[in-house]
Amino acid sequence: MTKSYRVAILGATGAVGTELLELLEQRNFPVSDLKLLASERSVGRTLQFKGENLPIESVSDRAFENVDLVLASAGGSTSKTWAAIAVEKGAVVIDNSSAFRMNPEVPLVVPEVNPQAAANHQGIIANPNCTTILMAVAVWPLHQVKSVQRIVAATYQSASGAGAKAMAEVKNQANAILQGHSPVAEVLPYPLAFNLFPHNSPLNDFGYCEEEMKMVNETRKIFGTQEIRITATCVRVPVLRAHSEAINLEFEEPFSPDEARDILSRSPGVKLLEDWESNYFPMPIEATGKDEVLVGRIRQDISHPHGLELWLCGDQIRKGAALNAVQIAELLVEKNLLKPAQVYVSR
Ligand SMILES: NC(=O)c1ccc[n+]([C@@H]2O[C@H](COP(=O)([O-])OP(=O)(O)OC[C@H]3O[C@@H](n4cnc5c(N)ncnc54)[C@H](OP(=O)(O)O)[C@@H]3O)[C@@H](O)[C@H]2O)c1
Repeated sequence: MTKSYRVAILGATGAVGTELLELLEQRNFPVSDLKLLASERSVGRTLQFKGENLPIESVSDRAFENVDLVLASAGGSTSKTWAAIAVEKGAVVIDNSSAFRMNPEVPLVVPEVNPQAAANHQGIIANPNCTTILMAVAVWPLHQVKSVQRIVAATYQSASGAGAKAMAEVKNQANAILQGHSPVAEVLPYPLAFNLFPHNSPLNDFGYCEEEMKMVNETRKIFGTQEIRITATCVRVPVLRAHSEAINLEFEEPFSPDEARDILSRSPGVKLLEDWESNYFPMPIEATGKDEVLVGRIRQDISHPHGLELWLCGDQIRKGAALNAVQIAELLVEKNLLKPAQVYVSR
């Protein structure tokens, strides 16, 4: 008989939470009991799972009793408050927030890249940042063949990257502008409809924002090397869903576009999408709702003999967050690693 698990989604009403719910059903994850947790604001609401209306409960100590797996997507401070409590009560937590990603005790896992890291979990496994996951899935197979020395990334990040409310805000702004009114920005700092702006996460002393530094530090942790030089410029664009990235890679030796294409066409989690005659390449509308990271426009960097350029689009709510988390959960089930931690991560 297949074993099944008692699962809780913390942040069930959010952009990532609702996707988690859908994926557990679509992928037939072995769930024996499902708890949907969110803030007090959502108590009284219900969400459907396998044809059943499940109530939203507010998060509390008691909510984590008799739970084997917590899929957390309620922001960093909520995870910092509740993850250790859930672990103490015997659950394994897969956390979508940035709260534990760079904690050396916590594995940071992209199943296509470093599934082995999950085996070392001590109760919490971190899901990487969404732009980082998409880039890692595409770059890792190439890095396996010829070591990448430097990555220069520019991102084009959709509104939903800032959550369900940001996505609604952009729609409202677009409506307002089309009706001749001024757009209102409350969730994001500036109007995003018919506009774009550099990512609004806090800036460090070197002028890099947090999102850019996540791409630098998390990629190195996932790839298991501090040697790769990485720089990024992250930008929010008025796309509702799915992020895009322009990536320049410098390898230790020349890497032909055809060789890269051949490797990527066989790589897990990647789908090549290139029609040079029609100038047809990955677009966010194509990536929306898809599991794979779409990669195209692979070309020689004319400014460097060891350089390659590529373009990718990926559904950051799906592979960049919820799907990656569910894949980690599936990995834990497959390897029998979904059991109470022996060691607790310090709070
Ligand atoms: N959106 C993305 O593309 C993406 C990608 C990767 C990672 N992430 C990360 O995933 C997490 C969730 O993001 P999201 O985009 O889904 O955000 P969201 O749409 O704003 O949803 C946030 C969720 O957290 C709940 N929540 C907020 N404060 C809470 C509290 N104090 N106690 C309990 N629940 C609380 C909300 O419940 P209510 O509805 O009751 O307020 C809601 O369910 C964040 O850490 C984010 O950085 C997001």
